[in-house]
Amino acid sequence: MSFNNITVEEAALMINHGDTIGLSGFTAPGTPKAFTEAIAHRAAREHEAGREYKINLFTGASTNRHVDTILAENNAINMRAPYQNLPALRARINSHDVHYFDRHLSEMAQEMRYGFYGKMNYAIIEAADITDDGKVLLGCGVGNIPTYAMLADKIFIEINDKLPKKLYGMHDVILLQDPPYRREIPIYAANDRIGQPLLQIDPKKVVGVVHTNEYDGVKTFTAVDETSAKIGANVVDFLVGEYRAHRLPKEFLPLQSGVGNVANAVLYGLADADELPTFMMYTEVVQDAVLELMKKGKCTFASTCSMTFSDDTEAELFSNLDFFHDKILMRPAEISNNPEVIRRIGVIAMNTALEADIFGGINSTHVLGTKMMNGIGGSGDFTRNAYISIFSCPSVTKGGLISNIVPMVAHCDHSEHSVDVLVTDQGVADLRHLDPVERAHEIIDKCAHPDYRPLLREYLKLDVGGHTPHALNAAFAFHNAFNETGDMRNADFSKYVKR
Ligand code: COA
Repeated sequence: MSFNNITVEEAALMINHGDTIGLSGFTAPGTPKAFTEAIAHRAAREHEAGREYKINLFTGASTNRHVDTILAENNAINMRAPYQNLPALRARINSHDVHYFDRHLSEMAQEMRYGFYGKMNYAIIEAADITDDGKVLLGCGVGNIPTYAMLADKIFIEINDKLPKKLYGMHDVILLQDPPYRREIPIYAANDRIGQPLLQIDPKKVVGVVHTNEYDGVKTFTAVDETSAKIGANVVDFLVGEYRAHRLPKEFLPLQSGVGNVANAVLYGLADADELPTFMMYTEVVQDAVLELMKKGKCTFASTCSMTFSDDTEAELFSNLDFFHDKILMRPAEISNNPEVIRRIGVIAMNTALEADIFGGINSTHVLGTKMMNGIGGSGDFTRNAYISIFSCPSVTKGGLISNIVPMVAHCDHSEHSVDVLVTDQGVADLRHLDPVERAHEIIDKCAHPDYRPLLREYLKLDVGGHTPHALNAAFAFHNAFNETGDMRNADFSKYVKR
């Protein structure tokens, strides 16, 4: 290879305060692991010397400890988009040290190309390999790197020696034309390939290469607990019911599954759903459970943006790539999450909520309405365009002090217009064709925890009238009770005047 080897310290010296950097990857996989640590250390030195030093950072989604954690710990980020999930960065975001804007993941790349976020100075790419003429074999996540690499003035490459060259063929890299020249995206089934196996970059932009050698560092999922298992079983029961009722075609439809332990539990539940046929996935991440589904022959193919496997599962994948190679295809986020494709091929979307309200509004992002958790991620891309959109969450959190079913969500990411089905450990609320008051009864009866059902019914009895009868002066009584007493069960509707 004819590219310059460089130290990460040398690279960090090239990056100036205020520069904008785009990273490869999506969640931890595919995300660089070396250069950003050196940038964080440089920031620490600059701050000690009394100088300002912060970068603007654009990614595919969340990252890893080498990026968001260490940069946040050293207060080295000014602007950050489109998604994150690590505690150190979350704390900086909630204190406004970092200016975070939370975008639908399908839109990030095109908005960067449209020029909404200024110039991109550097792209940092994790690669399994690169040819002298700039053909990059990417790692286990793609994200927005085709766009970032095209826009960036200069590029750093991290060759991760842990990544097998046999990953060749598992990527589908494409850059969309922008309006008014964009054409249809010719994906008619989840396994249609439309792009190239390698990312073409301009080799003249490459200023340096380093080598790393480590797995992606995704934490092993916690064993499926009783609540998650019940949620998983309820989702599966719902899907089986739809299948029996012929509201799903006999070939079934591609599934999307969100992030986290509940999402993983839902997928494990599908492994034993004998009545359902084999299926494909059209999703943004595949987690550990998907590999199990593939080994059992239940899931035959997954289109994704990232293989978000824990280290043990990643090792298993690498040692058995001949089996998995033609079953997984990684695409850029603007394809994996593309609304046009999701609507056309009829994706069944399954995402997780922090809280849901009795009329079907969903809060996925803001704890108690104010504190950013992670971000909307791809949940909006899928929810709005799905064949059926399912949200799930436990009925209560923090040992019952918090009800995840509330009168009105304290922040609305997905409105009732996009949400078809709500599932908790208590049951399944099918919201299709119900008016708002019917929805409220369905959600209270089927999804709310028994401790909270009487309170939620009291709220409805305030009966303020209107199509969606929200009593605006009482709508946040649950949240206020928690903030004032530490327990939502202390919500008191008797003080609100009934009409
Ligand atoms: N109010 C306050 N806190 C709440 C809460 C509520 N209603 N519901 C959950 N929490 C707390 C939990 O107690 C937990 O706190 P802890 O970290 O102190 O233990 C934390 O929030 C996370 O809850 P958990 O149940 O472990 O979440 P999860 O791993 O199932 O993830 C989301 C749930 C909503 C955070 C996650 O799915 C997400 O970020 N979604 C948005 C993006 C998305 O959907 N992406 C996928 C699209 S493809």
